[in-house]
Amino acid sequence: MFAFKLPMRVISELMGVEAAEDTRLRALYDTFFSSVSRADEVRAAMGELFAFFAGVVAEKKRRPGDDLTSALLAATEGGDRLSDEELIGTLLVMIAAGHETTINLMVSAVRGLLTHPDQLALVRSGAASWSAVVEETLRWSPPTTNFLFRYATEDIPTGDVVIKEGDAVMISYGAIGRDEAQHGPTAEEFDITRDAGRHLSFGYGPHVCPGAPLGRLEALVALPALFDRFPDLTLAVPEDQLANTPSILVNSLRELPVRLTAPRD
Ligand code: HEM
Repeated sequence: MFAFKLPMRVISELMGVEAAEDTRLRALYDTFFSSVSRADEVRAAMGELFAFFAGVVAEKKRRPGDDLTSALLAATEGGDRLSDEELIGTLLVMIAAGHETTINLMVSAVRGLLTHPDQLALVRSGAASWSAVVEETLRWSPPTTNFLFRYATEDIPTGDVVIKEGDAVMISYGAIGRDEAQHGPTAEEFDITRDAGRHLSFGYGPHVCPGAPLGRLEALVALPALFDRFPDLTLAVPEDQLANTPSILVNSLRELPVRLTAPRD
């Protein structure tokens, strides 16, 4: 709940969406991201999201506010404006990309620290930085597991194979982060003392994540605040009972139960 509230509110507030809608939007996106949702459920969720964002766009046309949706409505480039359909699609993507990923970053960081108390002690003592925690979490457990297909525009020889023009390619950030050629024989391990700077968990090239500074900033605010407020935070279940959300796209846990205070004897 903690990890969900902050990123959802931040991105929704930026886009001018009321807080009362956060829980409903989250449920619709959950259906969208889950690999176990039926096709008709995904279609229904998408339909509801489109209708909702169409309402937001109509409302911002009537009453522009101090938000990014109103700014996009007013924006022109070479005399062109975004169509309603483009704006609705932008809202849908921005709110999806802006909350789901950052939730997963925070959850994985808390999991990493609670299951590696020696490393938590390093951050607490100031021997390691929160920024190192965030970068190592992004490498070790990228919020986006895989990015769905891109298509090769020409033959691309790589290693022993050639990706042929027109082939579909799925990028696995999960695998990239654990590449031993880049991160050495301990690539599987969560280790905030390594230089994790070479991860690609925000993508690469012209479509690299535009929200990377915001995602990092939210984690850098939320994580120290959580551990300062609850210095005795521990996992409430053994680590092997943590279950991943079934999804080919995102890397999240169904839940991360924690104890906020030390149990009384
Ligand atoms: C820890 C947080 C985040 C992670 C790990 C993440 C990861 C990614 C990745 C892997 C991509 C694909 C990049 C590519 O195609 O090469 C992406 C794209 C995108 N992200 Fe993020 N993201 C995060 C936070 C955010 C936030 C906070 C926002 C919104 C403010 C956002 C908005 C977007 C958008 C709009 C795209 C599509 C960009 C395009 O296709 O040109 N992301 N993100």
